[in-house]
Amino acid sequence: MNAPKYQWQPSSEEIADRHGIPVDQVVRFDQNTSPFPTDWAPSIVAPMARTLNEYPAASYLPLREAAASFLGTTAEHIVPGAGADEIVLLIAKAFLRAGNRACAAIPTYPLYEIASLQHGAEFLGIDRIGPKLEFPLESLGEAAETSEVTWLCEPNNPTADRTDDRWIEEIVSAAKGVVVIDAAYAEFTRDDWAPLVKRHSNVIVCHTMSKAFGLAGLRVGFSMSSIDLAQRIDAVRPPGSISSMSAEISTAALREPQRMERRVVRLTKERGRLAQELTKLGIRVVPSSTNFLLCEVGSSAVAISENLMSAGLVVRSFPQDGQLARFLRFTVRAPHENDRLVAALWSHLP
Ligand SMILES: Cc1ncc(COP(=O)(O)O)c(C=O)c1O
Repeated sequence: MNAPKYQWQPSSEEIADRHGIPVDQVVRFDQNTSPFPTDWAPSIVAPMARTLNEYPAASYLPLREAAASFLGTTAEHIVPGAGADEIVLLIAKAFLRAGNRACAAIPTYPLYEIASLQHGAEFLGIDRIGPKLEFPLESLGEAAETSEVTWLCEPNNPTADRTDDRWIEEIVSAAKGVVVIDAAYAEFTRDDWAPLVKRHSNVIVCHTMSKAFGLAGLRVGFSMSSIDLAQRIDAVRPPGSISSMSAEISTAALREPQRMERRVVRLTKERGRLAQELTKLGIRVVPSSTNFLLCEVGSSAVAISENLMSAGLVVRSFPQDGQLARFLRFTVRAPHENDRLVAALWSHLP
């Protein structure tokens, strides 16, 4: 098996060490995580401190029920996992084997290709079109007709756009196999995928607690699909990949989505401000439906990202032989953190 490996970014501690800066000066603009503190969470799990000797219940029923109620469905349609990443891997495990095909529009989240190849399938990456990186509806639709798994990322990481509903429905209707909608950023577009799942028995939607809910450290995600597909994913799920504390905090957060919703409003406002500041620097900012901004900074993108890293500002650059060689991706963080990024860019742009 010759699947590529997922590339991890260096940790904040490693970056601090390498550049001789205090670790609390390192800001992650590269992981599309939330800037909001999670100090509300420990009190929720404090009562569990005496029972960590026991395993979590493998059914994770309270978590499934809270996720179902948040998404407007029922618990049998939900499968929990250790992050959306584990859900992606479980889907590949359940639906792909040697001789199968998977496809996606690229650039997109790299795990789809890795997971597909790991299970022996062929992966067809269909390039987005032109300088605006438009969604390749026709070619992806054709690829979906012969694919056991079609991966859609809505909104897409890293292009930050959300495909038109009618196009998604076209692909779902044309697809030979399952269509996975990775909805990791769906709270920023207020998407409700439950009606699509009701209409189409081949759709699986992946959700995460890592982005709008601001709980990336917990490693919790879940899928929503028809009961039949949910049972097939559940059949390959390990019994206890989510810790009992992660499940408990996530359940509480899903039961009270208002906190998340208020934060989405704040981040969306801050995204507009950051985009304006970056535009003043002469950077082309791609319109965003997410908590990150894809920015065309020019041919010195990698050099700029290295200079920023030495100041403790970690941003995402892209392979130099790909469509995004001239781009950097910035997570929208807290205003004072974004101000540091903008100030550093003023001195590091050519
Ligand atoms: C599109 C997409 N899917 C999934 C993930 C991973 O989610 P999780 O933290 O739930 O594993 C990410 C993280 O950046 C992402 O951008």
